[in-house]
This record gives sequence, structure tokens and C-alpha cells, in this order.
Amino acid sequence: MTSHSSPHLTQTFNNPERFIEGWYWALPSHELAVGKVKPVTLLGRNLAIYRSDVGTVVAVDAYCPHMGAHLAEGTVEGDALRCFFHNWKFDAQGTCVDIPSLGKALPVQIKTWPVAEKYGMIWVWTGETPRHPLPFVPELEQDGCDSVLGSRFVKNCHPNVLMINAIDAHHFNTVHNLPVKIVFEKRDLNENATTFSNMTKGDDDFWFAKLIRPFYQHAITYSMCYWYGSTGTVTLGPDCLHFHIMFSLRLVEDGKAEGQTILITKQRSGLWGWSYNRILLWLTQQVGNYFAKGDTQVFQTIRFDLKTPIHADRSILQFIHHVDQQLALTWGTWEEPAPEIWETEERQQLNVLLDIALTLEDVGVEAP
Ligand code: FES
Ligand SMILES: [Fe+2]
Repeated sequence: MTSHSSPHLTQTFNNPERFIEGWYWALPSHELAVGKVKPVTLLGRNLAIYRSDVGTVVAVDAYCPHMGAHLAEGTVEGDALRCFFHNWKFDAQGTCVDIPSLGKALPVQIKTWPVAEKYGMIWVWTGETPRHPLPFVPELEQDGCDSVLGSRFVKNCHPNVLMINAIDAHHFNTVHNLPVKIVFEKRDLNENATTFSNMTKGDDDFWFAKLIRPFYQHAITYSMCYWYGSTGTVTLGPDCLHFHIMFSLRLVEDGKAEGQTILITKQRSGLWGWSYNRILLWLTQQVGNYFAKGDTQVFQTIRFDLKTPIHADRSILQFIHHVDQQLALTWGTWEEPAPEIWETEERQQLNVLLDIALTLEDVGVEAP
């Protein structure tokens, strides 16, 4: 019998044991000085992250292959890391290059992870080789970026659920008192990134429109770009002035979300450009705060379950589908989950019925 797979059976969305393979922030760049090593727990996995004498960042699995000492207790030597316990030394590729007591190295290896640095953050790719870029604002893809770190926060719900907030058109009216009609159009950038852009024209009642009315003529842009189901970049504003806010989340214990807000604009040159950007990024932070206001309590108590979707929830369903299509890894191990053996009996029976129905259709029998 053929098997027809259904997205409902491979659910990743809002699963406290799953995350999408991708780029996740580990720690702010300024917290890792040259020649220093730090312990970082990322998506349940313990890492040691260090900065070599020339400034490059290396991320390795935390535990020494000799006896399991945490490598963040060790010291950085050039571009290598030496374990505190018995002084074994590992180069930037994770290869053992020195065991002082033996006077030679052994063919052992610590696992290294791809690292990047942008927006004042150190990012780690949770797989072998990065398949897609770091999260970016689509509008600024070709530009250099100027950014500042906003606030750090923890919410009592899964990152996927928090991400939905930006495209929950319905709640803009009920929670944020924005008398606007928003209709999103979805456009994929790649398998791990998708954009939802508002297609309705700006409304003069919109609080933001009132605020900047003297400066704008055209419609107001509102769009959200999702990366790895876990980071979102909001672009908001009239044609002449777009604000960009990145909400970058990661799944922590008990299915909670830890987030970092990053305020972004394009690089501008000279002293004037620098000063302009400081003011703009400060303003961006105020816009970001406005976004965060109002929802705080609901994310403490929500048990997300979209049992009764209505037309206004269409974008949310599209986002859930987008998340479920991506390569999911297991929280803690970063391994691909084993093939599903958790299907309930009812589900199996339903699948059998579905298979029979589809097979009958194949041979030309009309469904009742
Ligand atoms: S535990 Fe690291 S050198 Fe022994
Ligand atoms: Fe909201």
C-alpha cells in the first residue's frame, strides 16, 4: 500500500522538544573578549565558545574528550583551547594537537560548530554546514547594517507561538487598539525564510500615521520576515522612514522562549550619519517597546491550541505549515528525531482509511 504523508503527523510547530536547524544567537559579542572562553547553553546543548588572539570566534562542544572537564574552564592559546584539567590542547578545528604528559597528540576530536558574528551577536549554526544565511531584513540585504541590542526577555510559551504575534492581524484591533485592516501576502525567500507583507493601504486613523503625517505621502509598510521559525524581522514605517526590529528567540527549558530584541538600520557614513543612526535606533527601540506592550500577560498563561480557526487566522495557519516543512532537530541533542513511532492507533487507522480512499480514487471509484 502506498503511504500518503500528512503534515499533521510530523508536527514541529510549538513542540517543546523540537527546533529548526538554523542560526541562533549564543551571546553578545562584547561579552567575549579576545583570549577569553565562555560556557554557553544553547538549545539544551552545552558549548564552550572562545575568541582567539586574532579575534575569530570558535564554538565547540563543552566536554573534553579525555575525561569530560568543561572546556570553558580552560584557557585560550593563540587560536587553540587548552583544557584546564590535564592540559590537552585542541586547535580551532577541534583536533587534539598536544597532550603534555605524552609529549604528542592523540587522534581525538572535539566537535566544532559554524559561527558568525553580526548585529553585535555571536551566532551558531546548529548543523554541520550552514545552508542559509544569518537572519536579515530583506530590505537591507544589500546594505551594511548598524544595530544596537535592545532588551532580553523570557516568555512562558514556545518561540513559534510568540512569533505569530506579528501576523495575528485580528489582535492588532483587540489588544493594541490599532484601527487598521491588515491583509498579509506570504512570499518565501528560501525553505527557512518567509515574508508576510501587509497589502492594505495605510489608514489615516493609524496612530503611527498621525504621528508622522507631516512626513509621509504613501502607504505605510508593515512586513515580517521569519527565519527558522524563531527569529522575526519587522519592517514598519512610511516610505521615507522604515524601522527594522529583529526579535530573535530560542527555545529554553520547559518549552519557554528566551528572546533578544535587536534594532537595525542601514549603515550611514560620516559623523552626521552616525548621529542620525543613534537617534533613529533609539526611536526604533520605542516602536519596538510599543509592539511588546499589551501582550505581556497573555503569553504568561496561554496554552496555544488553534482549535477554531477563522478566516482572520489564515496567515497563522500558513506560518504553522511553514514551520512544519523545515528540518527539525531535537532540543538538547541537536540530532534529527528518529522516524515517527509515536503515531497513535487512531492516527494509524485514519491513515489506513485515507490510503484506501486515495487508492480507490486512483482506480476511478468516486468518493461518497
Ligand atoms: S579532562 Fe581535559 S585534559 Fe583531561
Ligand atoms: Fe501583539
